[in-house]
Amino acid sequence: MTQYRRVAQLLSAPVLREHLRSLNIELPLDETVVSGPEAPLARTCSLKGRTIGNRFAILPMEGWDGTEDGLPTDLTRRRWRRFGESGAKLIWGGEAAAVRHDGRANPRQLMITENTWPAIGELRQELVDAHEEACGRTDDLLVGLQLTHSGRFSQPGPDWSRRPKILYRHPYLDRKFGVPPDYPLMTDDEIGALIEDFVRAAVLAKRAGFDFVDVKHCHGYLGHEFLSAVERGGRYGGSFENRTRFLREITAGIRAEAPGLEVGVRLSAFDCLPYEAGADGVGEPMDRQGKPYRYGFGCDETGLCFDPTEPKAFLDLLVELEIPLVCPTAGSPYYNPHVQRPALFPPSDGYQPPEDPLVGVARQIAIAAELKRHRPELIYVGTAYSYLQEWLPNVAQAVVRTDQVDFVGIGRLVLSYPRVVADILSGQPLKRKLLCRTFSDCTTAPRKHLVSGCYPLDEFYKSHPQAALLEEAKHPRDSQ
Ligand SMILES: Cc1cc2nc3c(=O)[nH]c(=O)nc-3n(C[C@H](O)[C@H](O)[C@H](O)COP(=O)(O)O)c2cc1C
Ligand code: SF4
Repeated sequence: MTQYRRVAQLLSAPVLREHLRSLNIELPLDETVVSGPEAPLARTCSLKGRTIGNRFAILPMEGWDGTEDGLPTDLTRRRWRRFGESGAKLIWGGEAAAVRHDGRANPRQLMITENTWPAIGELRQELVDAHEEACGRTDDLLVGLQLTHSGRFSQPGPDWSRRPKILYRHPYLDRKFGVPPDYPLMTDDEIGALIEDFVRAAVLAKRAGFDFVDVKHCHGYLGHEFLSAVERGGRYGGSFENRTRFLREITAGIRAEAPGLEVGVRLSAFDCLPYEAGADGVGEPMDRQGKPYRYGFGCDETGLCFDPTEPKAFLDLLVELEIPLVCPTAGSPYYNPHVQRPALFPPSDGYQPPEDPLVGVARQIAIAAELKRHRPELIYVGTAYSYLQEWLPNVAQAVVRTDQVDFVGIGRLVLSYPRVVADILSGQPLKRKLLCRTFSDCTTAPRKHLVSGCYPLDEFYKSHPQAALLEEAKHPRDSQ
C-alpha cells in the first residue's frame, strides 16, 4: 500500500502545517474551534427569507438498500433518521432518487414516482421528527431531495448489468467500461421525455414535503455528462448554451409546475481523465497519447488541471435562473474516485491513491472558494471534508469564518459518527473511535452488490448479516 502520513498522527497545528507545506498545499485552519451560539459554524444563513440554523449540511448518500420498486426500507429509514439527528440544518438531497426506472444506478436505488412519493414523504418526515427530538426545533431545517438519472452508469435491473444511456462517444469511458462503438446515443426526443420526468419528479418531491430538489449534475451521471458533450450534435450538445439546455428546460418546467419549490444543483465543478491501476496498483491517468483531452467539464486539455472558465459560466447561469443553491464536488466515484472522495484505502474497484488524500481535500476546498469568489450571491455547500478527521472542525470553522464556503458538507463521517455535528457545535471533544478513517467499505459493499453502511465503525453494520459477505468478497481466498 502507498504510504501516506496518517491524519491521526498529525497531532498539533504546527505539525499539520509543516505536513501541508511538504505537500505544497494550503488548507484554511483555525487553531481553536469556538462553540456556542456566536460560533462561526453556529451562525444562521438565510435563503429567500428562510433561516437555516447552522453551517453544516449532510451530503447525499445512498445505501443501496431500497426495494426493487424504489421504496425505502428499514435500512434507508435508519440512515435518514441519523441524518436528521446529526444536528446539521441543511440536508442536501438525502440520497440520489432516480426519476425513472432506467436511470437507476443500481436495482436498490430509490425512485420518486406516483407509486413511491408517499413513502418518500414519510421518509422525509422521519428525518424531520428525528431532528426535532435531537435538536428541539425544525423551523430552521431545510431538506432537499436529489433527483437523478444515472446515464452512463445506469444498472437498473435485478441482475446488476450495466444498461448505459449515453449522450456522446466518450473514447476513454467507452473503452474503460466496454461500451461498443455502435451503442446508440440518447436522441433529442428521448432527452425531451426525460426532462418531463425530472419535472414530474420535482412536482412529486414538493408534494412529499421537500423544500428543494437538487438537479444532479455530478459524478459522471447524466446531468454531468451533458456538460462535457462538446462533440454531440443537436439541441443538447456542442455549445455551452446547448450543453446547459437540459438544466434550463428542467428549471423552466419546475417553475411552471411546482412554484415555490427551490432548486439546487450538485455540480462536479472539476473533472479529469479517468484513472486506472498501474502495475504497482497505484492509480494513473489513462494515456491520452499526446491528444488534448476534451471530455472533462472544468478541466483543461492536459486532462489533469482545473480550468474555471466553464464552471464560472455555469454559476452565472444559476444566477440567471435564480437557482440559489450549489454544492460543488468533483470527479466521479467510477473513474477517478481519489478525486471525488479522498481516501487512504481504496474501494475494491479502485486503485492505491496516487496523491496524499489531503491534496484531494485541499483541491475541492480551493475550487469551492474560487467559485464563491466569482458569484458570492449563491449559497455554497462544500464537499470532501471527511478525510480531515481530527482536523475537520478546525478547517470547517476557518472556511466558513473567512467566507470561502457557506456550509460544510459532511459525507462519510456522518455514517461512522452520526452526532459529529452536534458534538462540534456544543464544543464536545471528538469521539476519535467514531472518526471515519476512509476504509471505503461503504463504497466497496455496493460494488459487491451488498447494502452500504459503515461496516468497520457502526455497531449495527458490524453485526449485520452482510458484514460476513463483505469480508468474504474482499478476501475471497482467505475465507475458503
Ligand atoms: C456510500 C456513499 C454513497 C454516496 N451516495 C451519493 C449520492 O447518492 N449522491 C451524491 O451526490 N453523492 C453521493 N456520495 C458522495 C458524497 O455525497 C460525498 O460527495 C463524498 O463522500 C465526499 O464527501 P466526504 O469526504 O464527506 O465523504 C456518496 C458517497 C458514499 C461514501
Ligand atoms: S466504511 Fe466507515 S470508516 Fe470506511 S469510509 Fe465508509 S464511513 Fe468511513
